[in-house]
Amino acid sequence: MRVPDLDAAVEFQTEILGLVETVRVGGVSYLTCNERHHELLLIEDREQCGYDHIGLEVADAPELESAKSRLEKAGGRVLGGVYDGEPGIDRALRVQSPSGHVFKLFTGMKTVPAPPPGDRPIKFEHVSVKSNRPKPLERFLADGLGMRFSDRMGPFASWWHCDSDHHGMAVVLAPKAEFSHYAWTVEDLNQMGRIADRLKQQRDQKLIWGPSRHGPGNNLFTYFNDHDGAMIELCADMAVMPPQGDYVARKWPNSPTTINQWGSPPPLRFLRAGFPIVEPSPGRPSWANSAESPRAVLAGSKRQQAPD
Ligand SMILES: [Fe+2]
Repeated sequence: MRVPDLDAAVEFQTEILGLVETVRVGGVSYLTCNERHHELLLIEDREQCGYDHIGLEVADAPELESAKSRLEKAGGRVLGGVYDGEPGIDRALRVQSPSGHVFKLFTGMKTVPAPPPGDRPIKFEHVSVKSNRPKPLERFLADGLGMRFSDRMGPFASWWHCDSDHHGMAVVLAPKAEFSHYAWTVEDLNQMGRIADRLKQQRDQKLIWGPSRHGPGNNLFTYFNDHDGAMIELCADMAVMPPQGDYVARKWPNSPTTINQWGSPPPLRFLRAGFPIVEPSPGRPSWANSAESPRAVLAGSKRQQAPD
């Protein structure tokens, strides 16, 4: 996420969610809640506030290389070549989907010592994006990124997975392409309550929706905004897909109460929530700098010095 005031944005994530900053370099904060080097990047940008990219981990470097042609065939625009030197990972490749959303495929996430005891999420879980033309994006998720169908609610929403979690991505029909929310796995309702208490006590901030239980995915949820107005979801009890679980993908009734098993349909504030896409520039992202690592771009097998 690109944020105008990095200190303030980091403070929200550490005080309310309990995240831990692994490292801060070149105006970028790398935050985690477990032994992965980072689960969230906050990039200081005083001109553009919005979402920069969605990170997706792939198995290894050959898979990253071979992804390029598949992504382009599925309607994606590859933004430069594979690059290395970004803190916490081995190498990465960025691609823009037909809907305009930017993904960063990466490999080689480093591990860090477990954070000190604290009340924090278990892991980063999923993102939900909005699009006025969901079909080309859905095709990109399936054919370009290899995601699998989880659930659908008429023309309005679909859910996709790439591991045993019911969804790693959700797609929502909306007037324009935006970012809807990013989600963390928490232990249970009690932990959602503790985080909601901190939100009220330390920020005097209310929840947007929940806690309750979604239909698709069957997960407990609650929603609220982060410091910069991007919507966060806390999730627990997410359905488990085969072969680890036995959830059967299905089509749900086209009704607002489908996404709330316990109570009322989503409030307008939830439906209208959107965080803008920061238009990407091709090539190595300007913020992906590391003091310790070589700054190089890998173009196929040929290494080139990256421009500043
Ligand atoms: Fe969600």
